[in-house]
Amino acid sequence: MAQNSWTPQSWQQKPARQMPEYPDQAALDRVLSQLRTHPPLVFAGEARNLQDALGQVAAGKAFLLQGGDCAESFAEFHPDKIRDTFRVLLQMAVVLTFAAGVPVVKVGRIAGQFSKPRSDDFETQGDVTLPSYRGDNINAIEFTPEARIPDPQRLLMGVAQSAATLNLLRAFAQGGYADLHNVHRWMLGFIADSPASEKYEGLAQRISETLEFMAACGVTSDSVPQLRGTDFYTSHEALHLPFEQAMTRVDSTSGDWYDTSAHMLWIGDRTRQLDGAHVEFMRGVKNPIGLKCGPSLEPDDLLRLIATLNSANIPGRLTLIARFGSDKIADKLPPLIRAVKREGASVVWSSDPMHGNTIKLQSGYKTRPVDRILEEVKQFFAIHRAEGTHAGGVHFEMTGENVTECLGGAQGLKEVDLVDRYQTACDPRLNASQALELAFLIAQGIRDERMKDAGLAASA
Ligand code: TRP
Ligand code: MN
Repeated sequence: MAQNSWTPQSWQQKPARQMPEYPDQAALDRVLSQLRTHPPLVFAGEARNLQDALGQVAAGKAFLLQGGDCAESFAEFHPDKIRDTFRVLLQMAVVLTFAAGVPVVKVGRIAGQFSKPRSDDFETQGDVTLPSYRGDNINAIEFTPEARIPDPQRLLMGVAQSAATLNLLRAFAQGGYADLHNVHRWMLGFIADSPASEKYEGLAQRISETLEFMAACGVTSDSVPQLRGTDFYTSHEALHLPFEQAMTRVDSTSGDWYDTSAHMLWIGDRTRQLDGAHVEFMRGVKNPIGLKCGPSLEPDDLLRLIATLNSANIPGRLTLIARFGSDKIADKLPPLIRAVKREGASVVWSSDPMHGNTIKLQSGYKTRPVDRILEEVKQFFAIHRAEGTHAGGVHFEMTGENVTECLGGAQGLKEVDLVDRYQTACDPRLNASQALELAFLIAQGIRDERMKDAGLAASA
C-alpha cells in the first residue's frame, strides 16, 4: 500500500460503504465548501492531550470511560439533556476513579454523533419500502419518502448543534459544575433513590470519608483546582467521510492533519475494511482513533489494520473497542489479545458491551438485557486478567434521561415497560440509573481484583 500518499481526499479512491447518496451533488458541494471554512470544533492540542491521556490507559495507568447516545437527534436537542448525560458520565467516572485508583479519561459520544451505519439500505413498513434512516446528519427519521431523502443542509445543522453542545460541555467541565464534591452529592442522591441502595452504600461511604479526610488535611476545591473541574472530550463515528474531510485541517503548531469535528473518532465494525475508504481516511488524521472489533474480525486482519492505522506504534493513538456479545467474547477476544501482544503493539483495549447484545422482541422492540451487558463486561475483565493485559475501558450507549429501552437493572424493567419511554433514534440505551448501577458493579469488580492483587503481593 502506498502509505505516503495520504491526503484528506485520498479515501475517495477507495470503496466507501454506508455513504448516503445525495440527489443534488452541487448542493452537497456548496455545503462542504461552507464547512471547510467553519471554525474547528476542537483544537489539535486538545486531541494531543487526549492521546497522551489514552497513552496512560495503554500503559495500564488510567481507565477510559466513553459513553453517550447511540445517535444524537435534532428534535431532542435540549440543554437539560446534555446536562443529564454529562452528569451521569461524571458520576460513573467518580465511582470508577475511586475503585480503580487511577485517573479516568472521560469521553462522550456527543457533540457530533449524527451519522449511522445501517445493515439494510431500505426499511419496509407494511407494503411501503423507503430508504433507511441514516442519522440526523443525513435524513429524517419519519417514515415518509420526503423525510428519507438525504439533505446536505442537515450537515450544517449538525455542526451548529455540535458547537452549541460542546460549548455547554466546556462550561460545565471547567466552570464549577463538575466539582468533585458536587458530583459526589449527586451520587448520594441517586443511591438514596435506588431500590438497590444497600449495594452501593459501602463504596459511596468510603468516598465520602475520603473527601472529608482530604478536606481536613486542607485539600479542597479552593486549594486544589483539579478538584473543581475535569477534562471532558468528544467523540463520534467517522462515518460520513465528505463531512469529516471538510472538517480536517492542518494544525499550525505541528503541521499535521487533524479532523477538528471531535477529539476522538472511531471506525465502525461495518466500515473497517483494510482497503476501504474509512481506514484510508483515518490513517492520515492525527487524532486518537478507535476501531470497533466485532466477531468477524480475525487476528491477522487486526494486525494489518493496526499496522496501517498506527504504523509508528504510538501509545494512545489506537483504541480497540471490543463488541462481541456476551456469548462470543470468550471465543473471539483472547486470540486478538494474544496477536496484539505478540506483535508488541500498543493499544487501549475497551469493552463495548452494547452492540453484541441487542435482541429483537416479538413486540418489535429492539432491546438489550442489562444482565448480558454486565456479563460481557465481566468476561472482558476476566479475559484480560487471564492474558495479563490491561482491561482499559468501557464504551456505553446511555443517556441521562429516565428512558425504558434496556431490560432489567435495579428497577427491574420488563418487556411491558419498554413502551413507556422508548425514545431512542437508533439503538436502545441504558437509562441514568442503569448506567450508574453498571458503573458500581464494574467498580466492585475492579476493586475485588485490586484487593486480591494486593493480598497476593503482600504474601509473596
Ligand atoms: N480533575 C479530576 C478528574 O477529572 C478530579 C475530578 C473533578 C473529577 N471533578 C470530577 C473526577 C468529576 C470525576 C468526576 O479526574
Ligand atoms: Mn448503536
